[in-house]
Amino acid sequence: MNREALSGAGTAIDWARVREDFPLLARQVNGKPLIYLDSANTGQKPASVIQTVDDFYRQHNANVSRAVHTLGTEATDAYEGARKRLARFLNVRPDELVLCSGTTFAINLVAYSWALPRLKAGDTLLVSRMEHHANIVPWQLVAQRTGATIKVAEIHADGTLDLDALHAAMTGDVKLLAITQTSNVLGTVNPVREICREARKRGIVTVVDGSQAVPHRAVDVAAIGCDFYALTGHKMCGPTGTGALWARKEHLQAMPPFIGGGEMIKEVSFDGTVFNDPPHRFEAGTPNIAGFVGLGAAVDYLDALGMANVEAREAELLAHATEELDRIDGLRIVGRAPDKAAVISFLIEGVHAHDLATLLDLEGVAVRSGQHCAHPLLQFYGVAATLRASFAFYNTHEEVDAFIAALKKARALLA
Ligand SMILES: Cc1ncc(COP(=O)(O)O)c(C=O)c1O
Repeated sequence: MNREALSGAGTAIDWARVREDFPLLARQVNGKPLIYLDSANTGQKPASVIQTVDDFYRQHNANVSRAVHTLGTEATDAYEGARKRLARFLNVRPDELVLCSGTTFAINLVAYSWALPRLKAGDTLLVSRMEHHANIVPWQLVAQRTGATIKVAEIHADGTLDLDALHAAMTGDVKLLAITQTSNVLGTVNPVREICREARKRGIVTVVDGSQAVPHRAVDVAAIGCDFYALTGHKMCGPTGTGALWARKEHLQAMPPFIGGGEMIKEVSFDGTVFNDPPHRFEAGTPNIAGFVGLGAAVDYLDALGMANVEAREAELLAHATEELDRIDGLRIVGRAPDKAAVISFLIEGVHAHDLATLLDLEGVAVRSGQHCAHPLLQFYGVAATLRASFAFYNTHEEVDAFIAALKKARALLA
Protein backbone atom coordinates (compact mmCIF):
# COMPACT_ATOMS: atom_id res chain seq x y z
CA MET A 1 0.00 0.00 0.00
CA ASN A 2 0.83 3.64 -0.11
CA ARG A 3 2.67 3.51 3.22
CA GLU A 4 3.14 7.27 3.28
CA ALA A 5 -0.57 7.52 3.89
CA LEU A 6 0.11 6.14 7.33
CA SER A 7 1.54 8.84 9.50
CA GLY A 8 3.06 8.77 12.96
CA ALA A 9 2.15 5.70 14.95
CA GLY A 10 0.06 4.46 12.06
CA THR A 11 -3.32 5.36 13.51
CA ALA A 12 -3.83 8.77 11.91
CA ILE A 13 -4.45 7.87 8.33
CA ASP A 14 -4.61 10.17 5.37
CA TRP A 15 -7.67 8.64 3.78
CA ALA A 16 -7.43 10.83 0.69
CA ARG A 17 -4.02 9.27 -0.01
CA VAL A 18 -5.38 5.80 0.67
CA ARG A 19 -8.08 6.41 -1.91
CA GLU A 20 -5.40 7.12 -4.50
CA ASP A 21 -4.32 3.50 -4.17
CA PHE A 22 -7.51 2.54 -6.03
CA PRO A 23 -7.06 3.47 -9.71
CA LEU A 24 -10.63 2.71 -10.73
CA LEU A 25 -12.03 5.26 -8.28
CA ALA A 26 -10.50 8.03 -10.39
CA ARG A 27 -12.70 7.29 -13.39
CA GLN A 28 -15.78 9.05 -14.59
CA VAL A 29 -19.15 7.45 -15.20
CA ASN A 30 -21.72 9.15 -17.41
CA GLY A 31 -19.55 12.25 -17.41
CA LYS A 32 -19.52 12.45 -13.60
CA PRO A 33 -16.89 11.40 -11.07
CA LEU A 34 -17.63 7.84 -10.02
CA ILE A 35 -19.09 7.42 -6.53
CA TYR A 36 -18.81 3.73 -5.87
CA LEU A 37 -21.26 2.65 -3.16
CA ASP A 38 -21.51 -1.03 -4.02
CA SER A 39 -18.63 -2.53 -2.08
CA ALA A 40 -20.87 -5.11 -0.41
CA ASN A 41 -21.34 -6.49 -3.91
CA THR A 42 -17.67 -6.46 -4.79
CA GLY A 43 -14.81 -4.31 -3.53
CA GLN A 44 -12.44 -2.22 -5.63
CA LYS A 45 -8.79 -3.28 -5.88
CA PRO A 46 -5.70 -1.36 -4.81
CA ALA A 47 -2.86 -0.95 -7.30
CA SER A 48 -0.68 -3.33 -5.25
CA VAL A 49 -3.12 -6.17 -5.88
CA ILE A 50 -3.43 -5.37 -9.58
CA GLN A 51 0.37 -5.14 -9.89
CA THR A 52 0.87 -8.43 -8.04
CA VAL A 53 -1.43 -10.26 -10.44
CA ASP A 54 0.22 -8.57 -13.41
CA ASP A 55 3.67 -9.42 -12.10
CA PHE A 56 2.70 -13.04 -11.53
CA TYR A 57 1.69 -13.46 -15.17
CA ARG A 58 4.70 -11.51 -16.46
CA GLN A 59 7.35 -13.13 -14.26
CA HIS A 60 6.27 -16.29 -12.45
CA ASN A 61 3.39 -17.97 -14.26
CA ALA A 62 3.49 -21.76 -13.95
CA ASN A 63 1.26 -24.42 -12.46
CA VAL A 64 1.47 -25.20 -8.76
CA SER A 65 2.59 -28.36 -6.95
CA ARG A 66 3.56 -30.18 -10.17
CA ALA A 67 6.74 -28.97 -11.82
CA VAL A 68 10.19 -28.97 -10.18
CA HIS A 69 11.44 -26.20 -12.45
CA THR A 70 12.10 -22.73 -11.07
CA LEU A 71 8.88 -21.15 -12.25
CA GLY A 72 6.88 -24.05 -10.82
CA THR A 73 8.57 -23.58 -7.46
CA GLU A 74 8.01 -19.82 -7.53
CA ALA A 75 4.34 -20.24 -8.38
CA THR A 76 3.85 -22.85 -5.65
CA ASP A 77 5.64 -20.71 -3.09
CA ALA A 78 3.54 -17.69 -4.02
CA TYR A 79 0.30 -19.69 -3.84
CA GLU A 80 1.16 -21.33 -0.52
CA GLY A 81 2.48 -17.99 0.75
CA ALA A 82 -0.93 -16.47 0.13
CA ARG A 83 -2.56 -19.28 2.11
CA LYS A 84 -0.21 -18.57 5.02
CA ARG A 85 -0.89 -14.83 4.93
CA LEU A 86 -4.64 -15.32 4.84
CA ALA A 87 -4.41 -17.85 7.68
CA ARG A 88 -2.43 -15.41 9.80
CA PHE A 89 -4.93 -12.66 9.02
CA LEU A 90 -7.77 -14.87 10.28
CA ASN A 91 -5.75 -16.37 13.16
CA VAL A 92 -6.08 -19.95 11.91
CA ARG A 93 -3.68 -22.67 10.78
CA PRO A 94 -2.83 -22.73 7.07
CA ASP A 95 -3.40 -26.48 6.88
CA GLU A 96 -6.99 -25.89 7.97
CA LEU A 97 -7.63 -23.36 5.22
CA VAL A 98 -9.03 -24.64 1.93
CA LEU A 99 -8.60 -22.17 -0.91
CA CYS A 100 -11.58 -22.06 -3.23
CA SER A 101 -13.50 -19.72 -5.52
CA GLY A 102 -15.44 -17.94 -2.79
CA THR A 103 -18.10 -18.28 -0.13
CA THR A 104 -20.54 -20.00 -2.47
CA PHE A 105 -18.08 -22.80 -3.14
CA ALA A 106 -16.98 -22.92 0.50
CA ILE A 107 -20.53 -23.44 1.79
CA ASN A 108 -21.29 -25.98 -0.92
CA LEU A 109 -18.17 -27.87 0.13
CA VAL A 110 -19.52 -28.15 3.68
CA ALA A 111 -22.97 -29.05 2.36
CA TYR A 112 -21.82 -31.82 0.04
CA SER A 113 -18.84 -33.15 1.91
CA TRP A 114 -19.82 -32.74 5.56
CA ALA A 115 -23.63 -32.54 5.68
CA LEU A 116 -24.79 -34.81 2.86
CA PRO A 117 -23.16 -38.01 4.17
CA ARG A 118 -24.25 -37.33 7.76
CA LEU A 119 -27.79 -36.00 7.75
CA LYS A 120 -30.95 -38.07 7.59
CA ALA A 121 -34.71 -37.69 7.91
CA GLY A 122 -35.53 -36.27 11.31
CA ASP A 123 -32.46 -34.04 11.40
CA THR A 124 -32.73 -30.28 11.17
CA LEU A 125 -30.61 -27.55 9.61
CA LEU A 126 -31.01 -24.19 11.29
CA VAL A 127 -30.47 -20.97 9.32
CA SER A 128 -31.34 -17.36 10.04
CA ARG A 129 -33.82 -15.17 8.18
CA MET A 130 -31.06 -12.81 7.10
CA GLU A 131 -28.93 -15.30 5.13
CA HIS A 132 -27.65 -14.70 1.61
CA HIS A 133 -28.90 -17.32 -0.85
CA ALA A 134 -25.42 -18.86 -0.75
CA ASN A 135 -26.18 -19.84 2.84
CA ILE A 136 -29.70 -21.10 2.14
CA VAL A 137 -29.82 -22.92 -1.18
CA PRO A 138 -26.99 -25.43 -0.50
CA TRP A 139 -28.83 -26.47 2.68
CA GLN A 140 -32.08 -26.83 0.77
CA LEU A 141 -30.29 -29.15 -1.66
CA VAL A 142 -28.97 -31.18 1.26
CA ALA A 143 -32.42 -31.30 2.84
CA GLN A 144 -33.99 -32.52 -0.40
CA ARG A 145 -31.49 -35.34 -0.69
CA THR A 146 -31.42 -36.45 2.93
CA GLY A 147 -34.97 -35.83 4.14
CA ALA A 148 -33.69 -33.37 6.76
CA THR A 149 -35.71 -30.23 7.33
CA ILE A 150 -34.79 -26.54 7.52
CA LYS A 151 -35.77 -24.34 10.44
CA VAL A 152 -35.53 -20.55 10.30
CA ALA A 153 -34.34 -18.36 13.16
CA GLU A 154 -36.30 -15.11 12.91
CA ILE A 155 -35.20 -11.52 13.31
CA HIS A 156 -36.62 -8.45 15.02
CA ALA A 157 -38.00 -5.58 12.94
CA ASP A 158 -34.84 -3.54 13.55
CA GLY A 159 -32.81 -6.20 11.76
CA THR A 160 -31.23 -7.78 14.81
CA LEU A 161 -31.37 -11.50 15.29
CA ASP A 162 -33.93 -12.77 17.84
CA LEU A 163 -31.32 -14.44 20.02
CA ASP A 164 -33.84 -15.93 22.46
CA ALA A 165 -35.69 -17.53 19.58
CA LEU A 166 -32.42 -18.73 18.08
CA HIS A 167 -31.31 -20.38 21.29
CA ALA A 168 -34.77 -21.90 21.76
CA ALA A 169 -34.58 -23.25 18.21
CA MET A 170 -31.38 -25.18 19.04
CA THR A 171 -33.27 -28.36 19.84
CA GLY A 172 -31.89 -31.90 19.89
CA ASP A 173 -32.74 -32.56 16.24
CA VAL A 174 -30.61 -29.64 15.01
CA LYS A 175 -27.34 -30.91 13.58
CA LEU A 176 -26.05 -27.78 11.90
CA LEU A 177 -26.47 -24.03 12.26
CA ALA A 178 -25.56 -21.80 9.33
CA ILE A 179 -25.36 -18.12 10.17
CA THR A 180 -23.91 -14.98 8.70
CA GLN A 181 -21.55 -12.85 10.74
CA THR A 182 -22.66 -9.68 8.94
CA SER A 183 -25.79 -9.26 6.83
CA ASN A 184 -25.21 -8.04 3.28
CA VAL A 185 -28.59 -6.26 3.31
CA LEU A 186 -29.10 -5.00 6.86
CA GLY A 187 -25.48 -4.58 7.87
CA THR A 188 -26.34 -6.32 11.13
CA VAL A 189 -23.32 -7.82 12.86
CA ASN A 190 -24.38 -10.96 14.68
CA PRO A 191 -22.74 -12.03 17.95
CA VAL A 192 -21.35 -15.17 16.35
CA ARG A 193 -19.05 -15.98 19.24
CA GLU A 194 -21.94 -16.24 21.67
CA ILE A 195 -24.10 -18.06 19.12
CA CYS A 196 -21.38 -20.64 18.37
CA ARG A 197 -20.78 -21.18 22.08
CA GLU A 198 -24.48 -21.96 22.62
CA ALA A 199 -24.53 -24.24 19.60
CA ARG A 200 -21.41 -26.08 20.69
CA LYS A 201 -22.90 -26.76 24.13
CA ARG A 202 -25.72 -28.55 22.34
CA GLY A 203 -23.47 -30.46 19.94
CA ILE A 204 -24.57 -28.42 16.91
CA VAL A 205 -21.99 -27.88 14.19
CA THR A 206 -21.70 -24.24 13.11
CA VAL A 207 -21.02 -22.67 9.72
CA VAL A 208 -20.32 -18.94 9.76
CA ASP A 209 -20.58 -16.90 6.58
CA GLY A 210 -17.86 -14.28 6.93
CA SER A 211 -18.22 -12.71 3.45
CA GLN A 212 -19.28 -9.30 4.74
CA ALA A 213 -17.32 -9.38 7.99
CA VAL A 214 -13.71 -10.04 7.00
CA PRO A 215 -13.45 -6.98 4.70
CA HIS A 216 -14.61 -4.57 7.40
CA ARG A 217 -13.23 -5.51 10.82
CA ALA A 218 -10.58 -7.70 12.39
CA VAL A 219 -11.88 -11.24 12.50
CA ASP A 220 -10.31 -13.83 14.79
CA VAL A 221 -11.82 -17.02 13.46
CA ALA A 222 -10.26 -19.16 16.19
CA ALA A 223 -11.90 -16.97 18.86
CA ILE A 224 -15.34 -17.30 17.25
CA GLY A 225 -15.28 -20.99 18.04
CA CYS A 226 -17.20 -22.11 14.96
CA ASP A 227 -16.67 -25.36 13.05
CA PHE A 228 -16.56 -23.85 9.57
CA TYR A 229 -15.90 -20.28 8.38
CA ALA A 230 -16.46 -19.19 4.79
CA LEU A 231 -15.17 -16.06 3.10
CA THR A 232 -14.79 -14.52 -0.28
CA GLY A 233 -11.72 -12.66 -1.57
CA HIS A 234 -13.27 -10.18 -3.98
CA LYS A 235 -15.04 -8.23 -1.23
CA MET A 236 -11.76 -7.74 0.66
CA CYS A 237 -9.73 -6.01 -2.05
CA GLY A 238 -8.76 -9.32 -3.65
CA PRO A 239 -9.42 -10.69 -7.14
CA THR A 240 -12.71 -12.32 -8.10
CA GLY A 241 -12.82 -16.11 -7.98
CA THR A 242 -10.89 -16.31 -4.72
CA GLY A 243 -12.03 -17.27 -1.25
CA ALA A 244 -11.57 -19.84 1.45
CA LEU A 245 -13.15 -22.29 3.80
CA TRP A 246 -11.63 -22.68 7.23
CA ALA A 247 -12.59 -25.85 9.05
CA ARG A 248 -11.47 -27.64 12.18
CA LYS A 249 -8.91 -30.26 11.26
CA GLU A 250 -11.00 -33.13 12.59
CA HIS A 251 -13.81 -32.16 10.18
CA LEU A 252 -11.48 -31.82 7.20
CA GLN A 253 -9.89 -35.17 7.93
CA ALA A 254 -13.26 -36.87 8.18
CA MET A 255 -14.67 -35.29 5.02
CA PRO A 256 -14.58 -37.07 1.66
CA PRO A 257 -13.47 -35.02 -1.36
CA PHE A 258 -16.14 -32.93 -3.04
CA ILE A 259 -14.51 -32.58 -6.47
CA GLY A 260 -12.11 -35.19 -7.86
CA GLY A 261 -9.11 -34.70 -10.15
CA GLY A 262 -5.46 -33.76 -10.10
CA GLU A 263 -3.72 -32.22 -7.06
CA MET A 264 -6.15 -33.73 -4.56
CA ILE A 265 -4.62 -37.22 -4.75
CA LYS A 266 -1.52 -39.01 -3.47
CA GLU A 267 -1.78 -42.04 -5.71
CA VAL A 268 -4.16 -43.16 -8.43
CA SER A 269 -4.58 -46.57 -9.99
CA PHE A 270 -7.58 -48.23 -11.59
CA ASP A 271 -7.94 -50.22 -8.39
CA GLY A 272 -8.42 -47.10 -6.32
CA THR A 273 -7.17 -43.69 -5.33
CA VAL A 274 -5.43 -42.48 -2.22
CA PHE A 275 -6.53 -38.93 -1.51
CA ASN A 276 -4.21 -36.15 -0.50
CA ASP A 277 -4.30 -34.69 2.99
CA PRO A 278 -6.41 -31.60 3.72
CA PRO A 279 -6.47 -28.86 2.63
CA HIS A 280 -5.19 -30.06 -0.78
CA ARG A 281 -7.73 -32.88 -0.80
CA PHE A 282 -10.34 -30.21 -1.48
CA GLU A 283 -8.42 -28.29 -4.12
CA ALA A 284 -8.75 -30.48 -7.21
CA GLY A 285 -7.49 -29.13 -10.51
CA THR A 286 -5.50 -26.02 -11.33
CA PRO A 287 -6.55 -23.28 -8.94
CA ASN A 288 -6.88 -19.57 -9.58
CA ILE A 289 -3.17 -19.17 -8.83
CA ALA A 290 -2.75 -15.55 -9.90
CA GLY A 291 -5.96 -14.69 -8.06
CA PHE A 292 -4.72 -16.15 -4.80
CA VAL A 293 -1.36 -14.46 -5.14
CA GLY A 294 -3.36 -11.25 -5.57
CA LEU A 295 -5.41 -12.13 -2.50
CA GLY A 296 -2.18 -12.43 -0.55
CA ALA A 297 -1.36 -8.87 -1.63
CA ALA A 298 -4.86 -7.77 -0.56
CA VAL A 299 -4.26 -9.24 2.89
CA ASP A 300 -0.95 -7.36 3.10
CA TYR A 301 -2.74 -4.18 2.07
CA LEU A 302 -5.48 -4.49 4.69
CA ASP A 303 -2.93 -5.51 7.31
CA ALA A 304 -0.87 -2.41 6.65
CA LEU A 305 -3.98 -0.25 6.86
CA GLY A 306 -5.04 -1.93 10.10
CA MET A 307 -8.51 -3.42 10.40
CA ALA A 308 -9.30 -1.30 13.46
CA ASN A 309 -8.69 1.79 11.30
CA VAL A 310 -10.85 0.37 8.52
CA GLU A 311 -13.67 -0.32 10.98
CA ALA A 312 -13.48 3.15 12.52
CA ARG A 313 -13.41 4.89 9.13
CA GLU A 314 -16.40 2.96 7.85
CA ALA A 315 -18.33 3.61 11.09
CA GLU A 316 -17.88 7.36 10.51
CA LEU A 317 -19.11 7.09 6.92
CA LEU A 318 -22.08 5.01 8.08
CA ALA A 319 -23.04 7.53 10.76
CA HIS A 320 -22.78 10.43 8.32
CA ALA A 321 -24.82 8.73 5.59
CA THR A 322 -27.46 7.49 8.04
CA GLU A 323 -27.91 10.97 9.49
CA GLU A 324 -28.34 12.50 6.04
CA LEU A 325 -30.71 9.81 4.79
CA ASP A 326 -32.84 10.17 7.91
CA ARG A 327 -33.48 13.79 6.98
CA ILE A 328 -35.20 12.78 3.73
CA ASP A 329 -39.00 12.62 4.00
CA GLY A 330 -40.56 9.29 3.13
CA LEU A 331 -37.23 7.47 3.25
CA ARG A 332 -37.16 4.29 5.27
CA ILE A 333 -33.96 2.54 6.29
CA VAL A 334 -34.29 -1.22 6.61
CA GLY A 335 -31.92 -2.45 9.31
CA ARG A 336 -31.10 -0.44 12.41
CA ALA A 337 -29.00 -2.85 14.42
CA PRO A 338 -26.78 -1.14 17.01
CA ASP A 339 -23.78 -3.12 15.78
CA LYS A 340 -23.88 -2.52 12.08
CA ALA A 341 -21.49 -2.57 9.13
CA ALA A 342 -21.51 0.29 6.62
CA VAL A 343 -24.38 -1.06 4.56
CA ILE A 344 -27.62 0.90 4.26
CA SER A 345 -30.69 -0.58 2.62
CA PHE A 346 -33.52 1.85 2.13
CA LEU A 347 -36.73 2.64 0.31
CA ILE A 348 -38.38 5.87 -0.70
CA GLU A 349 -42.14 5.98 -0.58
CA GLY A 350 -43.78 5.88 -3.99
CA VAL A 351 -40.56 5.46 -5.96
CA HIS A 352 -39.20 2.22 -7.38
CA ALA A 353 -35.70 1.25 -6.27
CA HIS A 354 -34.57 0.32 -9.81
CA ASP A 355 -35.72 3.70 -11.18
CA LEU A 356 -33.79 5.51 -8.48
CA ALA A 357 -30.69 3.39 -9.06
CA THR A 358 -30.84 4.14 -12.78
CA LEU A 359 -31.06 7.88 -12.18
CA LEU A 360 -28.29 7.72 -9.60
CA ASP A 361 -26.09 5.98 -12.15
CA LEU A 362 -26.59 8.93 -14.48
CA GLU A 363 -25.08 11.03 -11.70
CA GLY A 364 -22.11 8.67 -11.43
CA VAL A 365 -23.40 7.02 -8.25
CA ALA A 366 -23.22 3.21 -8.21
CA VAL A 367 -25.66 1.63 -5.74
CA ARG A 368 -27.37 -1.71 -5.91
CA SER A 369 -31.12 -2.11 -6.20
CA GLY A 370 -33.13 -5.30 -5.92
CA GLN A 371 -33.31 -8.18 -3.51
CA HIS A 372 -29.60 -8.59 -2.86
CA CYS A 373 -29.67 -12.42 -3.06
CA ALA A 374 -31.77 -12.44 0.10
CA HIS A 375 -35.37 -13.04 -1.00
CA PRO A 376 -36.57 -14.47 2.36
CA LEU A 377 -35.30 -11.37 4.16
CA LEU A 378 -37.13 -8.99 1.85
CA GLN A 379 -40.25 -11.13 2.21
CA PHE A 380 -40.01 -10.57 5.98
CA TYR A 381 -40.07 -6.80 5.43
CA GLY A 382 -42.81 -7.13 2.81
CA VAL A 383 -40.87 -5.20 0.18
CA ALA A 384 -40.08 -6.13 -3.42
CA ALA A 385 -36.74 -4.34 -3.60
CA THR A 386 -34.52 -1.91 -1.74
CA LEU A 387 -31.71 0.37 -2.71
CA ARG A 388 -28.46 -0.48 -1.01
CA ALA A 389 -25.57 1.90 -0.50
CA SER A 390 -22.55 0.06 0.85
CA PHE A 391 -19.40 1.87 1.89
CA ALA A 392 -15.75 1.00 2.18
CA PHE A 393 -12.84 2.83 3.78
CA TYR A 394 -11.92 4.34 0.40
CA ASN A 395 -15.18 6.30 0.23
CA THR A 396 -15.23 9.89 1.42
CA HIS A 397 -17.55 12.19 3.32
CA GLU A 398 -17.78 14.35 0.19
CA GLU A 399 -19.06 11.31 -1.67
CA VAL A 400 -21.73 10.80 0.99
CA ASP A 401 -22.89 14.39 0.44
CA ALA A 402 -22.82 14.02 -3.35
CA PHE A 403 -24.80 10.79 -3.09
CA ILE A 404 -27.46 12.49 -0.95
CA ALA A 405 -27.69 15.40 -3.40
CA ALA A 406 -28.02 12.98 -6.33
CA LEU A 407 -30.69 11.03 -4.46
CA LYS A 408 -32.73 14.17 -3.81
CA LYS A 409 -32.42 15.17 -7.45
CA ALA A 410 -33.47 11.72 -8.66
CA ARG A 411 -36.40 11.64 -6.30
CA ALA A 412 -37.60 15.05 -7.47
CA LEU A 413 -37.51 13.83 -11.06
CA LEU A 414 -39.55 10.75 -10.22
CA ALA A 415 -42.12 12.45 -7.97
C1 LIG B 1 -23.33 -12.54 3.08
C2 LIG B 1 -22.88 -13.14 1.78
N1 LIG B 1 -22.72 -14.46 1.69
C3 LIG B 1 -22.32 -15.04 0.56
C4 LIG B 1 -22.05 -14.31 -0.58
C5 LIG B 1 -21.60 -15.01 -1.82
O1 LIG B 1 -20.30 -14.71 -2.11
P1 LIG B 1 -19.63 -15.20 -3.47
O2 LIG B 1 -20.60 -14.82 -4.57
O3 LIG B 1 -18.36 -14.45 -3.54
O4 LIG B 1 -19.45 -16.66 -3.40
C6 LIG B 1 -22.21 -12.93 -0.55
C7 LIG B 1 -21.99 -12.10 -1.75
O5 LIG B 1 -22.65 -11.11 -1.97
C8 LIG B 1 -22.64 -12.33 0.68
O6 LIG B 1 -22.82 -11.01 0.76
